[in-house]
Amino acid sequence: MRFLKKGDDKKPKSESGSETKGHPDLKVISGSQISGKQPQRQAPPQPQQQQPQNITLPNIKYKIAVASGKGGVGKSTVATNLAISLANAGGAVGLMDADAYGPSIPTMMGIQEQPKVSPERKLIPLVRHNIKLMSIGFMVPEEQAMIWRGPMLHSSIRQLLSDVEWGELDYLIIDLPPGTGDVALSLTQAIPLTGALIVTTPQDVALADVRRGVAMFERLGVPILGIIENMSYFLCPHCNEKTEIFRKDGGKNTSERFGVAFLGQIPLDAEVCTAGDIGVPIVAGHPESPQSEAFGVVAQELETVLEESGDEDELTIL
Ligand SMILES: Nc1ncnc2c1ncn2[C@@H]1O[C@H](COP(=O)(O)OP(=O)(O)OP(=O)(O)O)[C@@H](O)[C@H]1O
Ligand SMILES: [Mg+2]
Repeated sequence: MRFLKKGDDKKPKSESGSETKGHPDLKVISGSQISGKQPQRQAPPQPQQQQPQNITLPNIKYKIAVASGKGGVGKSTVATNLAISLANAGGAVGLMDADAYGPSIPTMMGIQEQPKVSPERKLIPLVRHNIKLMSIGFMVPEEQAMIWRGPMLHSSIRQLLSDVEWGELDYLIIDLPPGTGDVALSLTQAIPLTGALIVTTPQDVALADVRRGVAMFERLGVPILGIIENMSYFLCPHCNEKTEIFRKDGGKNTSERFGVAFLGQIPLDAEVCTAGDIGVPIVAGHPESPQSEAFGVVAQELETVLEESGDEDELTIL
């Protein structure tokens, strides 16, 4: 695959709309597509560029999607802190932000710059907190709302996998947008995922969405590596009292019901939120804190699940 450059699509200017200030070597998304205004005339469907079924990424041992059925439960927070915990434990880790609709990983990892392109026309991941990082957000300006057409999304996901110099990695953690949509489908069509992690909050309404997430991966033939319960409790910094704000053990009970591993509970904590906002995830900024220890437990449990499975083919598909 090659990068599409400005003008490559050979559409007349009036059809492609105004250009964005995204990465100059990356696909340029047209103004009408990103502003949400519909083009007046729909371009006739183009023949699909022939693409291989799978990108194999043989130098990456585990390719793991972080998903949830519901938005705002802390996928990106978990993905960043888990990635750093795995790196702290000695792993070589990449983090791919595949959330086309709200890429938040660059902010959470404190990255503003654009990735460079190698002489071989491959994107060089940015490195931060010892993690190799690429985001779909590098392809379009942050402030513009994104409305992605299926084929465009699909090729962007493929580009993030096959046109990036990931190098040798133990883990590639892939942060997905919420829900059961196109990105997960594109991802599973592009690479053989080792499995998916489902992030949830403990209350019943969130757990209904976990079921939907599990069902989607089941349909896609992707094993569930485990469930992570986020915002599980609030630990009072003054008296150390534990308050279960969103009820108790919902994620744990659901994992038992589905017969999948429960990887751990992450406390609801202002420091976790602030750390994401300032671009220094808690595990990077305060590795000794109880919150970071909770992420460390999740990382350890994940390693155990992966080691016990031995071979990715042996992981149970629900
Ligand atoms: N354990 C936590 N304690 C405190 N704040 C948290 C915690 N986990 C996440 N947050 C905060 O909640 C908000 C949503 O988190 P995050 O962006 O990680 O969720 P998400 O599931 O990725 O959202 P989306 O579905 O929009 O992608 C962020 O402001 C984040 O800092
Ligand atoms: Mg997110």
